[in-house]
This record gives sequence, C-alpha cells and structure tokens, in this order.
Amino acid sequence: MLKHDCGSCHGLPPKGGLGPSLMPDALAGKSDQLLLDAIQKGRAGTAMPPWRTFLNEDESRWLIARLRQGW
Ligand code: HEC
Repeated sequence: MLKHDCGSCHGLPPKGGLGPSLMPDALAGKSDQLLLDAIQKGRAGTAMPPWRTFLNEDESRWLIARLRQGW
C-alpha cells in the first residue's frame, strides 16, 4: 500500500512529488499525532485524501513507524 497508493503522490521512495517528502529526515520534526491526523482525515483543500476507511488508527501508526525507519 505504501508503495502503490502513497508512492503515487509522495514518490518511490517517498522523497516528495505531488505530496511532500515522507522520508525520515522530513518527518523528524513532526509529531505522530500530526501525521496521524493527515493520514486519517486527509488535508482539506489539498490532494491528500482521508484514509480512515482503509486504515484504522493502529494501522496508520504502524505506517508512520515504518516511514520513520526509512524506506
Ligand atoms: C492523491 C495524492 C496523495 C496520495 C495518494 C497520498 N497523499 Fe499524502 N499528501 C498529499 C499531499 C498533496 C499532501 C500535502 C497536504 C498539505 O499541503 O498539507 C500530503 C500530506 C501527507 C502527510 C502530511 C505530511 C506533512 O509533512 O505534514 C502525510 C503523513 C501523508 N500525506 C501520508 C500519506 C500516506 C501514508 C499515504 C498512503 C496511505 C498518502 N499520504 C497518500 C497527497 C497524497
């Protein structure tokens, strides 16, 4: 999912494309809560869609942990 769904906008590896970089250095200053909100609810007015129908909170936290570890 990270590769196909997220990668289509964030890049592969996710160094940024239509969406911003999701590489560890880019996420370093951002809290899990901020990233979780973006994934669950999307960002209104941008291309970032809400994923809560596909990913519950635990799954989203798991993805964030993977992103923080690097590609
Ligand atoms: C259709 C394009 C698109 C897809 C698909 C997409 N994103 Fe995004 N994403 C964006 C855009 C655009 C932003 C920037 C929104 C903004 O300006 O605040 C963003 C922002 C984010 C942010 C916040 C980053 C930050 O620095 O604040 C996270 C986290 C994120 N996306 C994760 C994901 C994950 C995980 C997936 C896959 C489940 C995903 N995105 C799929 C377009 C997309």
